[in-house]
Amino acid sequence: MKISGTGSVLPRKVVTNEMLSQFLDTSDQWITTRTGVKSRRVISDEKLEDMAIEASLKALADAGMNADELDFIICSNVVNEYVTPQLSCIIQGGIGATCPCIDINCACAGFIHALEIAESFYKAGRVGNVLVVCAEEPTRMTDWNDRRTCVLFGDGAGAAVLTPGDNIRSIKLSASSATDKLWQYRLLHHTPYITKEEVDVPLQMKGQDVFKFAVKAASRDIARTLKETGVTADEVDHFMLHQANIRIINAIQEYLEQPSDKFPVNIEDHGNSSSSCCPILLDECNRSGRLKRGDLIAMSAFGAGFVSGAVLFEW
Ligand code: COA
Repeated sequence: MKISGTGSVLPRKVVTNEMLSQFLDTSDQWITTRTGVKSRRVISDEKLEDMAIEASLKALADAGMNADELDFIICSNVVNEYVTPQLSCIIQGGIGATCPCIDINCACAGFIHALEIAESFYKAGRVGNVLVVCAEEPTRMTDWNDRRTCVLFGDGAGAAVLTPGDNIRSIKLSASSATDKLWQYRLLHHTPYITKEEVDVPLQMKGQDVFKFAVKAASRDIARTLKETGVTADEVDHFMLHQANIRIINAIQEYLEQPSDKFPVNIEDHGNSSSSCCPILLDECNRSGRLKRGDLIAMSAFGAGFVSGAVLFEW
């Protein structure tokens, strides 16, 4: 398969570090130096499914394709207002497609997991055109009184249209269960039979553990894709990394010994929008003319689980 079109949508509301400093014991200086985030886009009156539909339509337009030409839709999402139906079904109807669809929840590594699933469908000869759409609102998961988490995140939707081709060189996924490092509980409706204690807990994070995992996992995943294909880091044109923390990106850059201009970033004014980070960054690079046909792109993401993955592909 190959990526033939991209699209993305951000919420309108810009929340700066200064705005956060008005109600949190934090500062622009702390957030900027420790994370690289200066502002983030936060959902206010938008609905996530509308943003996902718009991002998908932009990707379809970029690919020159109509929605009824799609054979499958994969939506990556951690939370949204619906418990059911799945978000991909809402997007399917919203864009006017008629194909089957599934949701996956692989946290921030969702885009790369979706590409792996799609690639398997292509290899099995089951699909022609596939839409992958990542739609995330992590700002609805954090406690906005918790300065250790809420400053990191932003919302957004990113989409990519896949068509037949031979552009995926390698995809590597991994999972290592560490459910006490990055997690959230939600309270389900009570029944007359529930006797266990249940609690509603916003996103919890052991920041330094996540940081260490992220650097190790991303470096390893990218190295595995390079090893499998015999490509050197020098031959890769762009390293598109999950936008979680600029210091994580810098550490991976140091490990790969590559110049910073190969690492496009948007964390400064986007924050971490979970699985949407990768397709949004890809779309922004695509639309700004940064990508040339034939460029080699290494993309990597990591998230709660822990899960992680990297993909090496040709543009
Ligand atoms: N403003 C001001 N101070 C803050 C703060 C904030 N927003 N957040 C935390 N602090 C404080 C802490 O309370 C701590 O204070 P203490 O020493 O008095 O206890 C101090 O800053 C240092 O905290 P620490 O957690 O050691 O900072 P850090 O350098 O590890 O940075 C993260 C914290 C969260 C930015 C960093 O660990 C990180 O980015 N981890 C990865 C998170 C991530 O990527 N999550 C998503 C994965 S998909």
